[in-house]
Amino acid sequence: MEKIFIRTFGCQMNEYDSERIAGILAKEGKYEFVNTETQADIIIVNTCSVRQHAEDRALSYIGRYVNSKKVIVAGCMAENYKSKLFIKYPKLFAIVGTFNIPYIDKIIKKGGLYTGENKDLYKPDIIRNKSIKSYLTIMQGCNNFCSYCIVPYVRGRERSRPVSEIVQELKILADNGCKEVMLLGQNVNSYFDENKKVNFPQLLKELVKIDGIERIRFMTSHPKDLSDELIETVATEKKLCKHFHLPVQSGSDHVLELMNRNYTSSSYIEKTSKIRKLIKDVAITTDILVGFPCENEKDFEDTVKLVKTVRFDDAFVFKYSVRQGTEAAKLNDDVPETEKLRRLNYILEIQKKISEDINKRFLGRIVDVLVLDRSFKNSLEFKATTETNKKVYIKGTDEMIGKILKVKITEIRSTDAFGGEIV
Ligand code: 5AD
Ligand code: SF4
Repeated sequence: MEKIFIRTFGCQMNEYDSERIAGILAKEGKYEFVNTETQADIIIVNTCSVRQHAEDRALSYIGRYVNSKKVIVAGCMAENYKSKLFIKYPKLFAIVGTFNIPYIDKIIKKGGLYTGENKDLYKPDIIRNKSIKSYLTIMQGCNNFCSYCIVPYVRGRERSRPVSEIVQELKILADNGCKEVMLLGQNVNSYFDENKKVNFPQLLKELVKIDGIERIRFMTSHPKDLSDELIETVATEKKLCKHFHLPVQSGSDHVLELMNRNYTSSSYIEKTSKIRKLIKDVAITTDILVGFPCENEKDFEDTVKLVKTVRFDDAFVFKYSVRQGTEAAKLNDDVPETEKLRRLNYILEIQKKISEDINKRFLGRIVDVLVLDRSFKNSLEFKATTETNKKVYIKGTDEMIGKILKVKITEIRSTDAFGGEIV
């Protein structure tokens, strides 16, 4: 049997795609999955193109193995660079773009270049993941064309999977012991099943009916498409986790316009206040992009002001990185690297204080947690998560795994980890 190792770079969507690749190949029964590169005959590298840094890491990884192993490059970089990757690495075995992942079973035998649109979406029956927490992609692609972003070019236009297929896949996951699912899409709010005329909140109302699934999360939500109906659905449906990941990117209206985000800082603040008003103890997290072309000190201060106003539970902050082919690539990348770094660190520092404040208020509270596993092998402590996706470590026994328990928070360990006791 040929031995396969899969290395995943990038977002949750890629992790899901890697699970799919593993699922399709496991079904063939001809391969063994190994845990290290050295043991492998075939290495599948699932790549990310969202920033230059992610691409550089993948390129150096490919370079390390391409001469000694059968290397297959899958995902966003495959779609972004296509045959150019063969020019850079003539010994590469195959290039599999985001649309062609469902054909990995054939490609792995033949090798070659497989990029560009392909109609087949995933079939729900190929699942390898037997864990308490799983990902489930409900839509692929993006129509938003934020000016800095490569995603619409490498993952194509929005395609929503049919409700029936998502329900079927979630039932299979539930039968395999899944308790918590993270629904994935570049912009889940614009999910729409054309045939059944089902929108995202309506899909959620279908999915909460599935027995065995205790918690449902979703990401990413685009602020411009976040409807009152969705907020109300999360407020009322018990299985829906009280957490919104709502990337704001910038607090400056001028920059937001150049980014083609289609909202203003005040409309963003209005939406987040509404979420907080309707959903008690909700967590709101965000992505922020600093150093976008033309971002001046005043624009940056507007972002700082927004961060202080909204008081996010957590923020992922990125330095702008030029993506060839996007609209923003036509603008002058005029914020110096050192200044981008300064702005990034400044936001991180403010955010850290806010997260710490929020965490202090968490001490002494009783919350529901889902117990995932021992924190590491033979540990006496178990890792669990709150609905707001914070980690809580508790003592207990194996029988707790997969259960939702009431826990009192007794200790803060880091910005997103706590110690607790079962009550
Ligand atoms: N440069 C830096 N960060 C980017 N992101 C998307 N495109 C770029 C880019 N060109 C960030 C955004 C997005 C997150 C997934 O990655 O903040 O929300
Ligand atoms: Fe990229 Fe914007 Fe689409 Fe998100 S919504 S994937 S940032 S184009």
